[in-house]
This record gives sequence, structure tokens and C-alpha cells, in this order.
Amino acid sequence: MASFLQIPDDEKGYDLNLFCVPKHYEEDLERVIIPHGIIMDRTERLARDIVQDMGGHHIVALCVLKGGYKFFADLLDYIKALNQNSDKSVPLTVDFIRLKSYCNDQSTNSVKVIGGDEFSTLTGKNVLIVEDIVETGRTMQTLLSLLNGYNPKMVKVVSLLVKRTPKSLGYRPDYIGFEVPDEFLVGYALDYNEYFRDLSHICILNENGREKYKV
Ligand code: IMP
Ligand code: MG
Repeated sequence: MASFLQIPDDEKGYDLNLFCVPKHYEEDLERVIIPHGIIMDRTERLARDIVQDMGGHHIVALCVLKGGYKFFADLLDYIKALNQNSDKSVPLTVDFIRLKSYCNDQSTNSVKVIGGDEFSTLTGKNVLIVEDIVETGRTMQTLLSLLNGYNPKMVKVVSLLVKRTPKSLGYRPDYIGFEVPDEFLVGYALDYNEYFRDLSHICILNENGREKYKV
């Protein structure tokens, strides 16, 4: 099973005032739960694990927009650094798709795929799906069954976060950054109705933020 950094349910996190948080979000967040630096350090290690396992084969890195874009960019930078500095290296190409399953802080049953290349271009390729967070697992299961219809050679999933929640259908990604408590998290490209992507740290949304940015 994939190893991960576990953030316990009673994790206090850090006071917002100890870090730089945009002024416009100061009233909307409870605590910082994963500071940006720790995200980067963990991402560096995930890159090493992925290269070790998938090394030698051409990888198509598939970014799940919009929430995955920061993690995707940083992960690929670390993979690139490994490629530049070792005897073993993997060619990397990229693709982008958009999935939408959320309204306010609730996962909905329908998962919509918006944009992206034809999935037929993934036939016979080694695909690395890069996702921000797995909650119920429905988004990833839907995407995986869609992809499998196009016969890729191999599909691996890396998710920065996995939520510990009774709503989980049991799906676990191949690589996991952090396992997090059952809270609504924002920052580092994770959004609440499109807000909070412009926040570096992963934070817990508070009641005020939930109300202010409700649709
Ligand atoms: P799932 O289909 O329930 O696993 O949900 C996965 C998707 O829901 C993720 O790709 C996110 O876009 C979104 N999501 C789930 N939990 C959170 C959260 O705490 N903050 C922001 N987005 C979330
Ligand atoms: Mg997502």
C-alpha cells in the first residue's frame, strides 16, 4: 500500500498569523493545516518514488484541472530535476482535462469531463493521473473507467491528498501525499467555488468563508 504523511484528526495546524495569507482571505480561514514548504518537500519525495517505479517508460502526465494544477506543476518540476541529474530518466509529455463534481462543499453524483485531448491519444501509453484530493473516490473511479476504455499500457494515480471520510467508496490512489481529516480544505489550487486557489498553504475553511463564497 502507498505510504503517506498522516495528518491526524486532532491536528491543531498553525495560527494564520504565523504565515503569509492574502488579506482578502484572513477572515475566511480556520487554521493553516499544511504549510506550503511541507507540501513541496513531500512532493519532492513523491517525484522520486514515481520515477523509481515508472522510470524507463515514457510517461503521459495527465493533470486534472483546475485543482491539480499547482501540484502538477511542482511535481513535474521535481521529476524534471531528477531527469536532469541522474543516469536514469523518463521522457514526459503532458495533457490536461477538467472534471467537475462539486457545488459549494458537496460532492455531486455526476462527474463532468470538460475539454482535454481525445483520450484515444493515451492508447498504449503509461499514464500518470495527477489529482489534488480524493474524497469519495467517485471522480477518480469515473475517470479510470473512462480511460481504461482506450487501453492505455499502464495507469497510475497520484493524489496530493486523500480525505479520511465515511463517504469514501474505498478507492486508494497509487501514490498519496497526505491523508487528511474530514474537513473542507482550500489553498494550493484547492478551491471553494473557485476561490482560495490564490493561497499558498492548505487551510481549513471557516463558516464565514463558507457563507461569503456560497453560490
Ligand atoms: P470525490 O469524487 O468525492 O473523490 O471528490 C474529488 C473532487 O472533489 C476533488 O478532485 C476536488 O475537486 C473536490 N474536493 C473534495 N474535497 C475537497 C476539499 O476539501 N476541498 C476542495 N475540493 C475538494
Ligand atoms: Mg480535483
